Amino acid sequence: MIPALLRSSALTAAATVQNEGDVDVLVPTNNAAHGDYQWNFAFRVARARKENPRALAERLLPFFIEHPGVAHAEVAGAGFVNVRLRDDWLASALARQAGNPGATVAQTGAGKRVVVDFSSPNVAKRMHVGHMRSTHLGHVITLLHAAAGWQVIGDNHLGDWGTPFGKLIVAWNDWRDEVAYAKDPVGELERLYVRFGDEAKFDPAVHPPEREAAALLLNDRAREETAKLQRGDAANRLLWQDFRSRSLEEYEGVYARMGVTFDEVLGESEYGPVTDSVVADLLERGIAENSEGAVIVRLGEQVSVVRKKDGAATYTATDLACVRYRVDRWRPDRMVYVTDARQHQHFMNFFAVAQRSGVEADLVHMGFGMLKLPDGAMSTRKGNVIRLVDLLDEAVARARAVVDEKSGSFPEEERAAIAEAVGVGAVRYQDLVQSPQSDITFDWKKILAMDGNSAPYLLYTRARAASILRKATADGGALAAPVATLTHPVERDLALALLRVPEAVDGALRASAPNLLADGVYRACESFNRFYYELKVLDEAEHRASRLALVQAADAILVHALGLLGLRALARL
Ligand code: ARG
Repeated sequence: MIPALLRSSALTAAATVQNEGDVDVLVPTNNAAHGDYQWNFAFRVARARKENPRALAERLLPFFIEHPGVAHAEVAGAGFVNVRLRDDWLASALARQAGNPGATVAQTGAGKRVVVDFSSPNVAKRMHVGHMRSTHLGHVITLLHAAAGWQVIGDNHLGDWGTPFGKLIVAWNDWRDEVAYAKDPVGELERLYVRFGDEAKFDPAVHPPEREAAALLLNDRAREETAKLQRGDAANRLLWQDFRSRSLEEYEGVYARMGVTFDEVLGESEYGPVTDSVVADLLERGIAENSEGAVIVRLGEQVSVVRKKDGAATYTATDLACVRYRVDRWRPDRMVYVTDARQHQHFMNFFAVAQRSGVEADLVHMGFGMLKLPDGAMSTRKGNVIRLVDLLDEAVARARAVVDEKSGSFPEEERAAIAEAVGVGAVRYQDLVQSPQSDITFDWKKILAMDGNSAPYLLYTRARAASILRKATADGGALAAPVATLTHPVERDLALALLRVPEAVDGALRASAPNLLADGVYRACESFNRFYYELKVLDEAEHRASRLALVQAADAILVHALGLLGLRALARL
């Protein structure tokens, strides 16, 4: 595999200069005329070493020239090493990769364990688009870790504790509609929660004065019901359990559609009961202090509150209790939390307190930007929350219209399956294709486009490869050669783009940026389509076997990579 092998040259060369530091500067060249890869190490380290970068690059050049896969290596520019790989070597590396695409991903996580906290919706509410992003991005983060050899524990950290439940219990007792609850439990809970919010509000400008007392009373009752629930009151406990399990049932339907699974589904409720002892421990060890009735941890400029004045544990306290559980249970090397970027400060503070109290695992917050809808484009809105199920249904319906038009001859069942894979995949892919930090504006045209960097385009490309392979077996001509012979620049480009997919997996994992994998897959698909349009595969006897080997490689590598993006790579569309 190219990067692994060239990386060994890079590492050995670098090691003769320094033992540590950034040797990870082996990048694809922008211009094919300069070769396939550029190594920037000498340029980067020379100045600190008071050496001439070109001279240093010259000195390290032999480590690349010696490499069996290298056709040509030279020093260029201000101290770069440009490397071009041999065509036959590329072809056999590709054949190996096609035989087992998973095996070519750098196993940076071998023997290590990661907990990924993702999706994590607040129960008794519909999952909304914020959780959709956490679900998609988090899921891909689990898949990327697993691909790199990590043992992955995916944990759906449900928001299932605290004051919202007291409010819900009051609202349930006063206003419930059992028929509606039986039909659509989460919808009814949401209605009750919204009604509580409305009636517990008092604004002297709009409300009559007698309303104030009623609103206060509702809030008092909610506090009391929350306290009762947390003390283990049987009736409240039963209600809470029912709200929670009905919500989970609905979420599971969504997860199943998206192909997402978890190893643990524990909620904040799991940790609520131990937050007191966590706070006590922080006080005892002098990490936390009492401050005006609350308990806080001072972190430079920041103050992290772990217990409020009224005695209630905070979100931070729950996360501290949870991190202790995860350390004891899993002894992870890393923990990744995938949430909305607006929670970033919370995580920075919580990580700082966790580290002070002895957590050694690498703690990562992967924050993502908002997903916005162009105004008015979506039909179903509940308050200002966009429901995930509606979004998926809409995408599938739109995909279905395209499938019916393009593949009307397919059986009904298959068309439904294609629409589901394309629609759900398209919604999912628009979360992955941009850098996670940027905000996304939902654009149906773009996400369902058959060309450009969209899920339908990628899925269609793989289906095209599969279709060529099907025809090749059916028409009785020569089958694929074990290794391709790269005779045309377009073939070489395709081989290189496919060989770079595992690098994209590695890069996406290192940067917590699934979009880097999406880019790599998109580039491979573009190369494949260029190859398909410019060269004949089945009808050119001389090249058929070799080109079929390339198609086979594309097929296997795309199936693997699309799977890592959580897309269902169907064999025909
Ligand atoms: N339930 C939270 C929300 O909906 C996300 C929880 C993230 N995980 C955590 N350990 N804090 O915003």
